[in-house]
Amino acid sequence: MYKFPEGFLWGGAVAANQCEGAYREDGKGLSIQDVMPKGIRGKRTESPTEDNMKLVGIDFYHRYKEDIKLFAEMGFKVFRTSIAWSRIFPNGDEKEPNEKGLAFYDDLFDECHKYGMEPLVTISHYETPLYLAEHYNGWVNREMIGFYERYVRTIFTRYKNKVKYWLTFNEINSVLHAPFMSGGINTPKENLSEQDLYQAVHHELVASALATKIGHEINPEAKIGCMILSMPTYPLTPSPDDMIEVMKEEHMNYFFGDVHVRGRYPGYMKRYFKEHNIKIHFEPEDEEILKNTVDFVSFSYYMSCCATADKEKQKKGNGNLLGGVKNPTLKESAWGWQIDPKGLRYVLNMFYDRYQKPLFIVENGLGAVDTLIVDENGNKTVEDDYRIQYLNDHLVQVGEALLDGVEIMGYTTWGCIDLVSASTAELKKRYGFIYVDRNDDGSGTLERYRKKSFYWYKDVISSNGKTL
Ligand code: BG6
Repeated sequence: MYKFPEGFLWGGAVAANQCEGAYREDGKGLSIQDVMPKGIRGKRTESPTEDNMKLVGIDFYHRYKEDIKLFAEMGFKVFRTSIAWSRIFPNGDEKEPNEKGLAFYDDLFDECHKYGMEPLVTISHYETPLYLAEHYNGWVNREMIGFYERYVRTIFTRYKNKVKYWLTFNEINSVLHAPFMSGGINTPKENLSEQDLYQAVHHELVASALATKIGHEINPEAKIGCMILSMPTYPLTPSPDDMIEVMKEEHMNYFFGDVHVRGRYPGYMKRYFKEHNIKIHFEPEDEEILKNTVDFVSFSYYMSCCATADKEKQKKGNGNLLGGVKNPTLKESAWGWQIDPKGLRYVLNMFYDRYQKPLFIVENGLGAVDTLIVDENGNKTVEDDYRIQYLNDHLVQVGEALLDGVEIMGYTTWGCIDLVSASTAELKKRYGFIYVDRNDDGSGTLERYRKKSFYWYKDVISSNGKTL
């Protein structure tokens, strides 16, 4: 039996753009997601098109009260969501915020508190205002820091008494792989120079540290974290060359955590920049700003991958944004994401060994095709034993990491209610404990149904992990 600490923050996670819908309501501006009907797998469109599932999402914007009530029924202690930047600053570069957008999140956070649930808020979750992408080229442009600063000042001030836990950028390292979705960078990936890409990274890192500084000034009690896409890398063979490849791949992800926790650039990146002829432009204040380090490190975990020095075998899989070489010993989901519960224990230990900071697992889960059935009592449900198995196996490894002495604040499953996928923009890739009746052709009633995993998670939470 595993012992989870008292006050462990059990819950679930979503992002505004994947569930809210109402993409034009109450003054919201367009976000980059409104022109990404195929996720990262297809080209963006000029303007929103009807086949874009995110325009309606799961209509969380209108149904959040019903949904939060269901989360409360499962016993959630925390609910992670994001603020849609373009609800607050529709174009991103306005001087004054949109009051209706601010009021929506006031109500949403109040609703969480009604049930004793802490909101955990991602400030920027793949939803840069489209205007900033098209007119400034997103984070390549240093002006973004000022727009982001105005946005964070606004929300930190407004929600000072409602939100304690904040994440500055979702999966900040993913900008290296999905520059439009992650960084609002309009230059097509194939034309984007490494110079511009890493300058954009620098701007985001400075903005993130600035947000941490401002957040603490506004509310010294606030806990502000970074959020990293974790994908532990194993050597494909025991060859030292493969191990060096592992180290290089890991560095590309650790870079982001290292700056957030240590407050400065690591030596291995300086070498990388030198060898790739990249010159990061620092303004005089940047070094000082970067010293505003995070209170905790959060991350998503879905899968691990392998690295090899063998050029022939370097063909990437289609995993969580980063790809990675497939591990021949692991099974995979219907979307080719390799399932590796032990990798979660490993990554928890690696982060903790490196940073000695509290960790928060803010995404983990299985995207699968679910079938709605009618049970013997006439209720619609999904018998999602595969999801229960996946989550149970991963939580057992969280239990192991706790035994290893790792400090873990909480665990929020990804897509605690079905939502639109980020990488493929589909609804049929479902993660939830709650089934939403909406399909990729736009059909469905939007009704919510409890899946079998709903009751399983409820027991896990009420027993504080003892039923695992
Ligand atoms: C993470 C993102 O990469 O993985 C989420 O932070 C995303 O936004 C999640 O939804 C799962 O990915 P997908 O592509 O299955 O939705």
